[in-house]
Amino acid sequence: MKKPEQRAGKELYQHYRAMSCARLWQEEVPRYAKATERERLDQVSLLRALGVVFAESGTEEEKRDLRAWLRDLLQDPQEKVRRYAMNALPKLGAGTEEEVALLSVLKKSDNSREKTYLSRSLDKIGGQATLDLIERDGVLGRHTEQKVRAALARGESATRLRLEVPLEFSSSERLRIHLRCRKGLEIILREEWEERLGEERFRVLDLQPGLLALTPLRAFTLGDLYTLRCHASAGFVLGSVPQEAGVEELAGVVVSPLSQKLFHTFTEGPIRYRFSYIRGEPARGLVQSVVDQAFAWAPGLLNDARQAPWALEVYPRPKGWSLELRPRWSRDPRLHYRVQDVPAASHPPLAAAMARLAGACHGASVWDPFCGSGLELIECALRGGVSRLIGTDLSGEAIEAARSNLVAAGLAGLNYALHVADFRDVVSQGYLGPATLDVVISNPPWGGGFASWGCAIFTRTC
Ligand SMILES: C[S@@+](CC[C@H](N)C(=O)[O-])C[C@H]1O[C@@H](n2cnc3c(N)ncnc32)[C@H](O)[C@@H]1O
Repeated sequence: MKKPEQRAGKELYQHYRAMSCARLWQEEVPRYAKATERERLDQVSLLRALGVVFAESGTEEEKRDLRAWLRDLLQDPQEKVRRYAMNALPKLGAGTEEEVALLSVLKKSDNSREKTYLSRSLDKIGGQATLDLIERDGVLGRHTEQKVRAALARGESATRLRLEVPLEFSSSERLRIHLRCRKGLEIILREEWEERLGEERFRVLDLQPGLLALTPLRAFTLGDLYTLRCHASAGFVLGSVPQEAGVEELAGVVVSPLSQKLFHTFTEGPIRYRFSYIRGEPARGLVQSVVDQAFAWAPGLLNDARQAPWALEVYPRPKGWSLELRPRWSRDPRLHYRVQDVPAASHPPLAAAMARLAGACHGASVWDPFCGSGLELIECALRGGVSRLIGTDLSGEAIEAARSNLVAAGLAGLNYALHVADFRDVVSQGYLGPATLDVVISNPPWGGGFASWGCAIFTRTC
């Protein structure tokens, strides 16, 4: 077997990568600490492997000890050793101590490659100290500045999407809203629009499989769009660019007056958005260049892939690209009631569409034989007209989830009964009497004898 010093970098990395945290820490780290300068250089792959292995399987304590050891290595006289140490740190949950250590290397370094690697690590772990240095000395560049500002904004204040603030616009501004749903539901969504929003407030521009396009005719709120329950998302079309559009054209749409107006009207707190392509592969590095350019033009808009409240999405069009801005809810405001879940739960807009199809009739009794977490029952009740809900499910956990969700939906006052039962036993168990039902609605289990039933069943007798 070859000794570490006889193996090439990649092979050596694989060798260390296969070891456990304990073996790396107890045998390899002490060996490396005692090694000569030449040996440290030859075995620098150990630092890369340490970052990966400890990130995957190290305990918090092990990671903390390793971070302290890597911080010391940031003082190594050899640039390559320092570079490998700084690269491993962000994987290990690095924080303020590591940030301070990296900044002190930055202050001393006059090596441009080392500075590039320092900024990559600070992109990931930089905080207020990094931002102060950027503002004072103009170091590290706009890319790192945007990353650090976004991380600080993420940590310091919860951004809220404002459902209640109206967006005012002049008659010359033409706004296009895309409500997206599962293909096939668009007709139901259109009916819902007609009933809840209507032609006086929004006009339909287009109806395609999976899409209802609207234009507002007067001021509206985000909340108005979320009175509709059958769409999965609501997006604002910001503009389109030709197929061959470059960085500046794309960034121009990201920071356009319309985009800024939407961001500022509907956001409380720092504005963060995630930029991504929906189908279609962007050229390598394009996304990064676009968001960096957008930040240079509009520093109040921060690109942030993590927990951003807005998604800025690029859709392919026959002759180019269309950019859309869409709220990304940590919790969809229409689903405040969904406090518990089951693995096979229905897609909520589908449950809402089924409830619409089932129709409303005054004083109806509704049964869901396979109620799971209760989405169909709740959507029926929220639609109105229901006087009694009955849910059965074989799973006690599902019935518990349905009960919690029903209460959270404010339906506790309704006459409802939830039973852990096989749906075939409802009559023999006395849960249902003859002629006591108006609507049967369900998303039955897939597989077994139910597969042929399709995805949804309903029966109405009223
Ligand atoms: C597709 S899930 C329903 C999901 C539900 N609509 C929701 O949104 O949570 C189907 C449910 O049928 C239940 N189930 C399967 N066989 C059953 C049976 N014979 N009688 C009653 N429930 C049954 C499963 O436990 C599962 O919760």
